[in-house]
Amino acid sequence: MKILVVGGGGREHAIIMKLAESPRHPELHCAPGNGGIAKYAACHPVKATDLDGMLKLAKELAVDWVFVAPDDPLVLGMGDLLRENGFKVFGPSKAAAIIEGSKVFSKNLMKKYGIPTAKYETFTDPAAAIAYIKEQDTYPTVVKADGLALGKGVIIAQSEDEAVEAIHIIMEDKVFGESGANVVIEEFLTGPEVSVLAFTDGESIAPMISSMDHKRALDGDRGKNTGGMGTIAPNPYYTKEIAEQCMREIFLPTMHAMNGENRTFRGCLYFGLMLTPNGPKVIEYNCRFGDPETQVVLPMLKTDLLDIMEATENESLNDLSIQWKEGACACVILASGGYPEKYESGKEISGLNEKGQCEGAAVYHAGTKLDGDRFLTAGGRVLGVTASGTSLKSALNAAYAAAETITFEGVHYRKDIGKRALAAKG
Ligand code: AMP
Ligand code: GLY
Repeated sequence: MKILVVGGGGREHAIIMKLAESPRHPELHCAPGNGGIAKYAACHPVKATDLDGMLKLAKELAVDWVFVAPDDPLVLGMGDLLRENGFKVFGPSKAAAIIEGSKVFSKNLMKKYGIPTAKYETFTDPAAAIAYIKEQDTYPTVVKADGLALGKGVIIAQSEDEAVEAIHIIMEDKVFGESGANVVIEEFLTGPEVSVLAFTDGESIAPMISSMDHKRALDGDRGKNTGGMGTIAPNPYYTKEIAEQCMREIFLPTMHAMNGENRTFRGCLYFGLMLTPNGPKVIEYNCRFGDPETQVVLPMLKTDLLDIMEATENESLNDLSIQWKEGACACVILASGGYPEKYESGKEISGLNEKGQCEGAAVYHAGTKLDGDRFLTAGGRVLGVTASGTSLKSALNAAYAAAETITFEGVHYRKDIGKRALAAKG
């Protein structure tokens, strides 16, 4: 069994380390991969968005499976191209990936099928968008570019001036490119956020253990938005009752809605939820595993991931009983100095063993490269230091103890990952 994983971050490293545990001992490949992944899989220099290059590589390697982890190749249709060429693929079709690729699509889907989400309007004309903002006259308000924008296409405007400015920069200056040709303007919601990833084959849906991301750069949820500075699982705000409500009101209706639109979703569907005073609402959908949610969710998975991939592709997910470990998992992201703004790369990392790992934790490499037997930084987010424990507290203690033993010039990380979750637990 040969598997090619597309991507090269911490999420892909976590996927590869989980696949490496499979009793079927698959031969693992990754494109493009990174320094840490190279210790567990053969890495190939093909960009994740290079559809033809990836097909060529899959053929050359004669792989059985391709696991397409990032959003952009899925939205471009890499899943379809590979399936058309006879490969088994984990990841949705282009028609289904639009649930992440277009916020206008996903908002209209939720409205049509009565799935709870923030109230909104969509606009193609900046003047009409500005007129709507003035008419609503409620702040904060949320302005979102329609398409993929590296997670940066959301502006929370605190005043009319900021909202109008957001329209200018998204629709006229096109700072997010063509993503900003359409915008969604929506109601500002409040409440704890929960990420729920779910396996689905279009017939049934199996939510994974819940998690909580920490998006801001600095302690106390201050500073700029990032790709995610740390995660914990499970999320203590997500009670059994809320999980049941989400299944009824959000997960199943979304799966049926995609079937109803002839866009059956097979793969991992990510629900970004907010637990508002009026019940759980969808903030966003992603068509893939989250990063860094995957780093805390997959270590808790007991069932062979390969079995789940097969069940998803064969539409037999309902026959599989997916098992999870007890306890908790925590991931602390070690970032380059300056991230999420300008940062330097090429700094030597110390504290890692020859496999790129350290005592007491799993180290998922996000932005590293190998230089002989040294690991160098090669990205904004560098490492996800991840530990499991019988409780959230013990998982966090272990992750932080391991993080302290790793260093590189300029390293910074949040010291308060999981703090709010611990307080919620009482
Ligand atoms: P997204 O890229 O859609 O995940 O949005 C980034 C972040 O913006 C989310 O994780 C939320 O914290 C925040 N956000 C997005 N939409 C809303 C909303 N309607 N109300 C409040 N916060 C929001
Ligand atoms: N952690 C958020 C995402 O993967 O989009």
